[in-house]
Amino acid sequence: MGAKAEAFEKFALATDLPQKAQNPSIRLLDVCYGLGYNTAAALETIWNINSNCHVEVYGLELDPTVPVGALVPEILNHWSTSVRVILQHLALEHTCQQVHLDAHLLLGDARQTLPKIVQSGFQADAIFFDPFSPRRCPQLWTVELFQIVAQCLAPDGKLSTYSRSASVRSAMKLAGLCIGTIPLGNNPLPHEWSQGTIAAWQSDGLLPLSVMEQEHLNTRAAVPYRDPALNNPPDVILAQHQQDQQTDRLESTSSWRRRWA
Ligand SMILES: C[S@@+](CC[C@H](N)C(=O)[O-])C[C@H]1O[C@@H](n2cnc3c(N)ncnc32)[C@H](O)[C@@H]1O
Repeated sequence: MGAKAEAFEKFALATDLPQKAQNPSIRLLDVCYGLGYNTAAALETIWNINSNCHVEVYGLELDPTVPVGALVPEILNHWSTSVRVILQHLALEHTCQQVHLDAHLLLGDARQTLPKIVQSGFQADAIFFDPFSPRRCPQLWTVELFQIVAQCLAPDGKLSTYSRSASVRSAMKLAGLCIGTIPLGNNPLPHEWSQGTIAAWQSDGLLPLSVMEQEHLNTRAAVPYRDPALNNPPDVILAQHQQDQQTDRLESTSSWRRRWA
């Protein structure tokens, strides 16, 4: 699936933005803003339904050069003229204020920028959670980070991520969230069982995990990543995770895989 289709399907639609767009205002948190696909798809989705809906959005991004990389015709041409202007402002000025928009790009490690969002009292109706994979960026998939992310989620908000990993799902549960699956779309690959995970404070409105996915949470693959003071380097988090998996008495993931062929 291309980045644009993924932004609509796994983030904008999966967090119910078409329904939420009927409200007078929506608050969005885009963790790992990157080239801005998820923010752009959300704005297109909301304003196609209700052009008067006021949107407040915070994007979090470590590398300021990445959003600037979106300012090329091959990427900008995906979006309407009004959304292109917003992506330009966010990439170059890190803010964009319009009649129906209050947008900010916070630069830095999300482990440091998220607590600032919490302190401001911001409560997101939708959180797009899009870091690189847990192996590559374990510091953004830990129990401790999800505990902070959860504080930014409104009581009836939804967090969406492409990850269906058991370690990610168990970290979300340990942070107090309920989880559901994003069902497979058309033409899934043979090894796929879900398109990702939705987290929320309540389970109503979430698609329950299949029995296979629930049993995955009882295997060693579900041992979560930890980062107690939210400042460990990735290699330390990975080494601790490996050690935790070795000492855990859960079922091996390979026997779960054999059981479910
Ligand atoms: C998979 S990409 C995100 C794609 C993005 N949602 C888009 O629409 O293009 C992951 C992004 O996370 C950023 N990143 C990596 N580590 C980060 C951190 N600790 N805090 C915030 N952002 C981080 C990377 O620079 C990269 O842009």
